[in-house]
Amino acid sequence: YLQQEDSLEYEYKELISTLPRQNGWLASSLYQYQGFWHAAAYLQGLISCQKHFQARDSDVFLITTPKSGTTWLKALIFALMNRKQNPISSTTHPLLTHNPHDLVPFLEIKLYALNQKPDIASLPSPRLFSTHMPYVSLPESVKSCSRCKLVYLCRNPKDTFVSLWHFTNKLRTPEMGTNDIGGVFNRFCNGISLYGPFWDHVLEYWNVSKDNPEGALFLRYEDMKEKPDVHLRRLAKFLNCPFTADEEELGLVDEILRLCSFDHLSCLEVNKSGKLSSGEENNAFFRRGEVGDWKNYLSLEMLDKVDRITAKKFSGSGLFL
Ligand code: A3P
Repeated sequence: YLQQEDSLEYEYKELISTLPRQNGWLASSLYQYQGFWHAAAYLQGLISCQKHFQARDSDVFLITTPKSGTTWLKALIFALMNRKQNPISSTTHPLLTHNPHDLVPFLEIKLYALNQKPDIASLPSPRLFSTHMPYVSLPESVKSCSRCKLVYLCRNPKDTFVSLWHFTNKLRTPEMGTNDIGGVFNRFCNGISLYGPFWDHVLEYWNVSKDNPEGALFLRYEDMKEKPDVHLRRLAKFLNCPFTADEEELGLVDEILRLCSFDHLSCLEVNKSGKLSSGEENNAFFRRGEVGDWKNYLSLEMLDKVDRITAKKFSGSGLFL
């Protein structure tokens, strides 16, 4: 989230300079590509990924808009899919010493960022990747893959916005000061936010999950907070690694939920004082982890505005957030 235009390769700089541009929430501008707004460095990563990424049938993609609970879902899926090699109760479980973002890499933000050509072909199957890319921008080999699994997690737009506002303020330098909430709220509502428009991002994946329930699972943060065990079992089934009767008996579902809970992860030393290789402090990904914190920040007028947009955008889709 921190990279700026200076780090771009010449070929991408040229392309990106032709795109519609708006001021970003951090130092970098936002550029509109395939209908969505992107920070320049991650747009380079996205385009590079579109060009080079080759999907495999066994690949799993964890997809979100920023601040929808990506960190939590990364932890859950990592723990779930690797539970044979990494027993959940082990004192050397990787989640105890690594931030989830270091265990499940972002395609455009990490693997393909900064002119890298990652050797993903040598990764053992099943490979687990994450991305914030809108569906329209996923590499063709992912969209045409008949057996890949897409797991999409979304969150209500009000909490997503408040979380994004806090997160970007945290990443701004003291000289930049904090963003005025009213100003960035209007930009969010106009679709001008990282990977925005928020509603279009969610709706695309909602439709994909309805058309292809075997290939795409649609999850809501609020549902996961309310009934985490139900959704973890759903996730396990969808990923073809359902809990066995023995695992159920041993209470593995609860063990995974405990390992990945906000209270547990946020208190680990690695997440209190560590940093990602891209520079962000790990603690920036753990704030409150609750549903409804927007009530502490949005005025009635803002609430009315965002609810109207949501109702209009999702009208007739069967989707409620
Ligand atoms: P808040 O800012 O509302 O607290 P992302 O991981 O997509 O960047 O989203 C970050 C949001 O998820 C933050 O929300 C953060 O606190 C919350 N979060 C992080 N880890 C979590 C966990 N284990 N369980 C629930 N929420 C979590």
